[in-house]
Amino acid sequence: MQKYFIVTYGCQMNVHESEKLAGMLVNIGYSEAKCAEEADVVLFNTCCIRDTAEKRAYGNIGALKSLKKQKPDLVIAVVGCMTQQKGGAAALSAKFPFVDIILGTHNIDELPVILQEKRAKKRVISINDDPSPAINDEIPIHRTSGTNAWINIMYGCNNFCTYCIVPYVRGRERSRKMEEILADVKQVLSEGYKEITLLGQNVDSYGSDLKDGTSFALLLKEISLIEGKFRVRFMTSHPKDFSKDVVDVIARSSNICHNIHLPIQSGSNDVLKKMNRKYTAEQYLEIVRYIKEKMPDVGITSDIMIGFPGETEKDFEETCEIVKQVRFSNAFTFVYSPRNGTPAAKMEQISPDVKKSRITRLVKLQNSITKELSKEYLGKEFEILVEDVNPKYEGTVCGRTDSGRLVTVKGDQSLIGSFQRVLITESKSASLFGNLIQTKEEK
Ligand code: SAH
Ligand code: SF4
Ligand code: F3S
Repeated sequence: MQKYFIVTYGCQMNVHESEKLAGMLVNIGYSEAKCAEEADVVLFNTCCIRDTAEKRAYGNIGALKSLKKQKPDLVIAVVGCMTQQKGGAAALSAKFPFVDIILGTHNIDELPVILQEKRAKKRVISINDDPSPAINDEIPIHRTSGTNAWINIMYGCNNFCTYCIVPYVRGRERSRKMEEILADVKQVLSEGYKEITLLGQNVDSYGSDLKDGTSFALLLKEISLIEGKFRVRFMTSHPKDFSKDVVDVIARSSNICHNIHLPIQSGSNDVLKKMNRKYTAEQYLEIVRYIKEKMPDVGITSDIMIGFPGETEKDFEETCEIVKQVRFSNAFTFVYSPRNGTPAAKMEQISPDVKKSRITRLVKLQNSITKELSKEYLGKEFEILVEDVNPKYEGTVCGRTDSGRLVTVKGDQSLIGSFQRVLITESKSASLFGNLIQTKEEK
């Protein structure tokens, strides 16, 4: 049997896309290899959101050169966002003459045919430049993420934040039909998944392109009406589109998690304007106020970027100020990385030393907030969905609270996939530890 090995970089969208790549391969008789050395096909599912992501992929692809020499029949494919950048496929092709297939983000469904026809051809480069290609709902999915099932609700992004490459490599917003999504939700629930994460670059504008009154609030409401015990998460929200309707639906439902990822990027209105984010710090704070009013137990997480062109010390301090005000339960912190072809790459850049100092200060600040918030969990009871064993501590498993906090408790594999009540007894920065306070629920 032929074997595949997939290396994935980037966001959840890509993680899920790798499940589709695997699904197509399994469908034509492949099985998963443990490592590249054991595989007949190696796929690199790439990301180009920051320079670091690209460098990692470049390094790993380059490292396969010698394996390809030893095994000339090995097929190496590069897919994902790096291939779809302007000149991306040509650059990859020039740098890695031993790569056999370069496939764009809009036409991954060609993979099985290309692989089957590959022997006849030398090398296949296939990129679809149409920014609004039709959605292919038929791609089989080989799910690999445990208790959680990813479900795409939309593709692409129309926002063109001036720093971001995503709209160029993922095309325009295209929403899937609500009935297709609901059918997928029911399907994964019937397969035993206990958690669903709805995926889109900007889930709040879900449905606007369908022009039939469909909205994200409506979709969430429909999903929350489905029977059974399960949890729903979603990402990513955009503050300019995040509506009070959505908050109301979440607050009223019993199965949509009180965990909202709402990237702020910056706390400075000048910077937000230059980023083309289309909201102000004050508007962001108003959404947060409303969320907390409706859901006092909410966990709000964020993406924060420092070092955007022209960011002054005052701008940076405004970011720190809003971080202190909102008190994110956790945040992904990024150093701005110029992306070719985006407007911000042409603006005047700030020095690496300044960026380094700011990221260090921001990380320290956020860590201290996360740590303080963790203490608030002590002595309280929560429900977690057990996701996995915690390999760091023998004889333990871990799962998340509704608000998205990871809790480790004593237990074994048999608990995976079950909901459990836990009492939090210890907090270590972002991690919480506790005890099971109920006998195992039926799975
Ligand atoms: N659609 C989502 C995810 C975008 S990528 C959203 O709008 O939030 C995830 C995060 O990467 C972004 O929120 C941003 O903080 C960061 N990011 C995007 N482009 C970047 C760049 N050029 N340099 C550094 N970080 C970047
Ligand atoms: Fe990028 Fe902005 Fe779109 Fe998010 S909303 S993917 S940051 S352009
Ligand atoms: Fe990266 Fe593409 Fe996601 S650029 S962050 S993998 S959409």
